[in-house]
This record gives sequence, C-alpha cells and structure tokens, in this order.
Amino acid sequence: MSDIITERTGGILRVEFNRPEKKNAMTGAMYTRLADILNEAREDEETRVVVWHSAGDAFTAGNDIGDFLKNPPGPGESPQARLMDALIRFEKPIVVAVQGAAVGAGTTMLTHCDVVYAGESAKFQLPFINLALVPEFGSSYSLPARIGHLRAAELFLLGEPLGAARAVELGLVTRVVPDEHLFATAMETAKKLATKPSGALRASKRLLKRGFADQVKEAIKLEMREFSERVRSAEAKEAFAAFLEKRPPNFTKTATHVGAE
Ligand code: COA
Repeated sequence: MSDIITERTGGILRVEFNRPEKKNAMTGAMYTRLADILNEAREDEETRVVVWHSAGDAFTAGNDIGDFLKNPPGPGESPQARLMDALIRFEKPIVVAVQGAAVGAGTTMLTHCDVVYAGESAKFQLPFINLALVPEFGSSYSLPARIGHLRAAELFLLGEPLGAARAVELGLVTRVVPDEHLFATAMETAKKLATKPSGALRASKRLLKRGFADQVKEAIKLEMREFSERVRSAEAKEAFAAFLEKRPPNFTKTATHVGAE
C-alpha cells in the first residue's frame, strides 16, 4: 500500500498520508510524491479543491529522522525543496484535517494551506531547535509575520508542543472540532469550495498570498542554506541518533561550529 493515497471525487482531490505505523513521518519519496500530486492537480481542470488528511492517530511526525541521516537535504534541489515550490505555486484551496501530532514540517506546511481544522487531539510542535535544526517551509518569515516575534520565538526557540485550543488562539489553525467530526467537517468545507467559481477562487488565493509570496520565497532560500549546514552538523547527528536510539540527546560533547564531527 502506498504511503500517500489519492482519490478524486468530482472537484475534490483527497490526499491521505498512509504511514500510520511511523506516525506518517515523511520520507524523501513522500515529499516528492506530494509535490507531484500538487503539480498535477494544479494543471488538472477537474480538481477544484484539495482535502489533505492522515491515517492513524497522528497527522505527521514531520521529516523521517532516519531518512535525514541517510539523505540530508542540500541547499539546492531536494524533495523538500520540490514540495515547498509546489505548495507556493498551488493556487487552488487546500483544506487540512489535523489529528494528533503535527510535528516540524507537519506544522510549517500548514502555513501554506487555507482552511486548517484541528481535532481536539491535535498537538503542534516546532522541535527544530531540539534537533539542532532551523525553521523551514518559509516559516521563519511567515510565522513571526502572522503571530508576532515573541510568540514565534517561543515556539521556535523552546520547541515545546501546543494543543489545538492554543493553536486557534495563535491563528495557526482555523477551528477546533471533535476528532470524530474532523474529516466530515473538512469534506463539508471542501464541497462548499468546490461549488465556487474556481477562477475567482484561484485569483482570491493569489491576492491573499501576494503580500507574502516574495518574502516567503526569500526566507526559504535562506533557510535551506542554513538547514543544509545544520542537518550535517555534529549536533544534529547526535539529536537524530538519540531519537532513533530512544534516549535523550547529549549536546555537551558536540562542538558548536557547523560540520564538526
Ligand atoms: N522519523 C522517523 N520515525 C519516526 C518519526 C520520525 N520523525 N516519528 C515517529 N517515528 C517512528 C518511531 O521511531 C516509532 O517507530 P518504531 O515503532 O519502529 O520504534 C514509530 O514511529 C511510533 O513512534 P512513537 O514515538 O513510538 O509514537 P508516540 O505516539 O510515542 O510519539 C510522536 C509520537 C510523533 C510525538 C513522536 O514519535 C515524535 O516526537 N517523533 C519525532 C518528531 C520529530 O522530531 N520530527 C522531526 C521534525 S523535523
């Protein structure tokens, strides 16, 4: 069974992450596949709206940490960069249903979506600092721009999880709904959006993102440069090994300069 399932019914393209045994952690192949799905949906006249959800009890645990160790993304072409580009260029509405953990990219990818419903079980986290990494998906620009520096700094520099209610308060998600109604609520909204004039929908989304687009692209460029150095650092390697060995990381023995072994 594929790690990402798609199904189009009428104007609605349903995209489901399907790697529940690994909390839907995203491998390089999944980034590439999701980018391809969005790029195809962009060109497909039949698709008017995308609904994105996940199987199991977690939306996504973010980047697959084992994959990071094997294939650390570079500053240029990478599966992650491909998905960022696809999300930025996608002008049709994306409705997301988030249950359980939405970690790292699981939270930053949402900044590119349009309607985000959080189940009561949703838990968001930007743990980059705990992995000796830096923000991605343009979130170093878009998050402080949306919620203010102090709130964004708390999320990025402490890397602690926050619940659905706090996420609504911060404006990270649209609304909290009971988990049992989460998918139905997302589909109901998608159905409404699918009946709207799609040319005007696309133009409206373009206008809404206009003030952000250039800055987000610039932020992604800078983030990718920094991220590709950090992901190869001794600190990050220790953090990834600690996660995979199910132990706390020990950063006291890792040098602070990048690339140190
Ligand atoms: N990369 C690779 N594997 C991951 C993963 C990730 N990001 N997140 C979870 N998994 C794997 C676990 O290693 C475990 O695999 P195993 O059964 O072979 O041991 C399985 O998924 C279940 O995860 P587990 O940690 O046992 O579930 P949990 O319910 O206790 O916790 C999370 C769920 C999401 C809170 C926790 O797994 C977590 O914090 N993951 C890391 C998130 C992260 O730091 N992501 C990187 C962002 S850049």
